[in-house]
Amino acid sequence: MKLELTNKIIKNQRYRQLVKELEDMEKDRIFCGHDMEHFLNVARIALILCQENGIDADCDIIYSAALLHDIGRVEEYRSGIPHDKASAVIAGDILSETGCPEDVKREIISLISAHRTAESGKTELEKIFFRADKKSRLCFCCKAQNECNWPEYKRNNEIGV
Ligand SMILES: [Fe+2]
Repeated sequence: MKLELTNKIIKNQRYRQLVKELEDMEKDRIFCGHDMEHFLNVARIALILCQENGIDADCDIIYSAALLHDIGRVEEYRSGIPHDKASAVIAGDILSETGCPEDVKREIISLISAHRTAESGKTELEKIFFRADKKSRLCFCCKAQNECNWPEYKRNNEIGV
């Protein structure tokens, strides 16, 4: 499977710089981080959920959205702008640099914008992306369980999708 856009993103200078900054900013964070491992876990879980739900998803779009969905954390740490909003803006810029077609860009940005809230009115794919983001967290073996503000119902106390 050729993930053309995905691979353009991981080679993009601004993207690489932001991933590095995020890594530095989170080096002492005790809670779940927002690193490449998380991004790829979100993509893979989303694809499993698509398969289970009979949704014909474009892998390149899912991987691209997953790579970019938390990149706005850098802005959130700096200036308090919610990271879903910051990620959507930064993703737009990076995707433009990759030469991504406008319709694909719109789809990726809508997945990023919808990844933090479970409100109704979402597309099936947006719901799956939201779920994959939450399911990617390893609550059952987390050392910061007692300090985490996630309510019990949200926690992944067992492995499952
Ligand atoms: Fe995330």
